[in-house]
Amino acid sequence: MFIVFEGIDGSGKSLIIEKLKDKLKASKKKVMVTAEPTDGKIGKIIADTEGFTPECEALLFTADRSDHTKKIQEWISQGYDVLCDRYVGSTLAYQSAAGADLNWLKTINSKITIKPDVTILMDIDPKISLERKKGSQLSRFEKLGYLKKVREAYLSIANDFEFTKIDANKDCEIIVKEIMSIIRKL
Ligand code: TYD
Repeated sequence: MFIVFEGIDGSGKSLIIEKLKDKLKASKKKVMVTAEPTDGKIGKIIADTEGFTPECEALLFTADRSDHTKKIQEWISQGYDVLCDRYVGSTLAYQSAAGADLNWLKTINSKITIKPDVTILMDIDPKISLERKKGSQLSRFEKLGYLKKVREAYLSIANDFEFTKIDANKDCEIIVKEIMSIIRKL
């Protein structure tokens, strides 16, 4: 299975993914945890550079995803359940919120992505998610006004892309239970 997690910064994806990994492993599953941007060469360019246009950033994230998708397909064919922190939804939400054209973003991603079995959208008010990040150094993406737009963008594409929305403000254990029940049904 290919399970993707989306949401604004501070929505708690990483913690939930770690907990799900443990649960799946406990039920004797082979699990691969992965994330975008990757720590490959293109992912590093994105992390290290500021001042790109939204379109340039979109192309870099998408190039990174193209290679990553090949790896994901290999893991799936080797029998792994793949838990992926961010995928195409991140480019659609973050780069459209930054001003790139949504249809163009869909087009450049259409041929280089595969359909996840499920995409979990961890939905949260950015005021709360940024509060959670207090004390840690914030990246150029982690600004309240921008994250509000990103959240709106996620919610507006949620139906089209069949995202399963989860209230990320709930207790972590409850969220893990909800996602496990979604996975079992699948
Ligand atoms: P991430 O590594 O998830 O952030 P963190 O520092 O919390 O681990 O992602 C870095 C940032 O990149 C995040 O703010 C979201 C942004 N991003 C995009 O804007 N577009 C994309 O396509 C992806 C994958 C990430």
